[in-house]
Amino acid sequence: MSESSAGSKIEVLNRKNTEALLGGGQDRIDAQHKKGKLTARERLDLLLDAGSFEEIGKFVMHRSKDFGLDKEYYLGDGVVTGYGTINGRLVYVFSQDFTVFGGSLSETHAEKIVKIMDLAMKNGAPVIGLNDSGGARIQEGVVSLGGYADIFYRNTLASGVIPQISAVMGPCAGGAVYSPAITDFILMVENTSYMFVTGPNVVKTVTHENVSSEELGGASTHSTKSGVTHFSCANELECIQNIKTLLSFIPQNCEDTTPRYAYEATDDEYRPVLDRIIPENPNQPYDMREVIEGIIDEGSFFEVHKNFGENIVVGFARLAGRSIGIVGNQPAVLAGVLDINASTKAARFVRFCDCFNIPLLVLEDVPGFLPGTDQEWRGIISNGAKLLYAFSEATVPRITVITRKAYGGAYDVMNSKHIGADLNYAWPTAEIAVMGAKGAAEIIFKREIAQAEDPEAKLAEKITEYQQKFATPYRAAHRGFIDEVIMPGQTRLKLIKAFKMLENKVANLPRKKHGNIPL
Ligand code: HXC
Repeated sequence: MSESSAGSKIEVLNRKNTEALLGGGQDRIDAQHKKGKLTARERLDLLLDAGSFEEIGKFVMHRSKDFGLDKEYYLGDGVVTGYGTINGRLVYVFSQDFTVFGGSLSETHAEKIVKIMDLAMKNGAPVIGLNDSGGARIQEGVVSLGGYADIFYRNTLASGVIPQISAVMGPCAGGAVYSPAITDFILMVENTSYMFVTGPNVVKTVTHENVSSEELGGASTHSTKSGVTHFSCANELECIQNIKTLLSFIPQNCEDTTPRYAYEATDDEYRPVLDRIIPENPNQPYDMREVIEGIIDEGSFFEVHKNFGENIVVGFARLAGRSIGIVGNQPAVLAGVLDINASTKAARFVRFCDCFNIPLLVLEDVPGFLPGTDQEWRGIISNGAKLLYAFSEATVPRITVITRKAYGGAYDVMNSKHIGADLNYAWPTAEIAVMGAKGAAEIIFKREIAQAEDPEAKLAEKITEYQQKFATPYRAAHRGFIDEVIMPGQTRLKLIKAFKMLENKVANLPRKKHGNIPL
């Protein structure tokens, strides 16, 4: 080969590489920036360790020729795919490029995503998708729909095998929403991203509602009303940072152990702040996050689903350098009652932790399930059962600390000993009973109170009697349903030791194809 022809071949390669980096062209990149959005490649630069990205399929082009597509080609076909590292750990990524046909999904675009998902499955590492797409490539018709289904199918097969994280950083509409929906976590960016099955125009035609994209399916809507997104991020930088933080708690795959951070636990882990949290009056609220902060490694709590079903708090933290998942009733909101949203939120979190070997800590202060027609008619029975089922089938180390109320069915549901928890502690302030003392006294002493000379005084007397008998942890401790009643300040040390003791836990479920969680 002559030097000049070799030179021109290298030039071709250089030209193609440069062209690929420009996606749909500078004008469209400028338009993307004007909307306050980064490009697909800029996002990957921020997400991955510097210099670690290896692109796969850079020169892929669509094969369609209909509706003018035979005249318009872009290298990469609207999605940047490959692998790289985050804090040194391997991840597979795809990042949709809105500057190319609005990031719409063609047959080849889908094939690129499928390729990296298959690699991720074979090599046991997380897949992170950065979504910014107008949906199915309209010019391509059914091959685009087929491409989506190929992805959905893989999302499902990968579920519980490798972690899958979806950031929605632009439009994500129509059937396209179902890929993120099957993945483990969805993050959205406020004001620049939205998700809906049918957009505002269709909504107006069908239901005559006037609603904006943001209101219908923006980050705020999905983080508070629907619970579809787990994280609502102020901007793209925060979104990318959240992905990295999230990954820091999660193993690479279902056979891996959780990442560990250096930590020297000492015997002096007493946290007096915990001794002062529970108010004198059992009906007074307090913030379960204060309990969490008092127990875990300083500043390590990473809350999931913060603005949805706020009567339960879920999230990751580290205890002596190890990842744990925390589920805590939140007495500061609706007295910490379990309702439909709280049950489904916690159930999904418990199942995620169980898939990926993340031990579970439950902090319990629950007055029961929320009564009322709204809850009953919308199915608190089957939704509450999801949480019961999720805990019951979880085989990771599971510890419960009852801080105050553990009433009724909620006592059973919240990781009780009876459904397989490994260790159950209670604080001296715990009240473990079928119901609150007043309700209980009114029912079981109804006749006695009615016949009393002073019914009010009789009721008060009976309430005290019930409280003394049952509004304590000791009946449960006598039975062994509670393993130890501990001082709140001791909780951290007890948990460090207990989770270490449970480190090699093996628990097998009965052989089955799969269970049938009440969906
Ligand atoms: C092909 C598309 C496209 C699509 C956008 N573009 N969506 N090309 N197929 N689905 C192109 C536009 O023609 C335009 O090209 C460029 O992308 C940017 O689009 P704009 O409309 O200029 O941008 P913007 O104003 O920001 O609006 C973005 C948008 C809008 C809201 C996403 O483009 C839109 O409504 N697109 C159609 C969405 C849609 O109905 N998709 C199908 C959904 S059904 P130029 O050349 O001008 O830059 C679906 C089914 C999936 O996805 C089923 C899975 C089972």
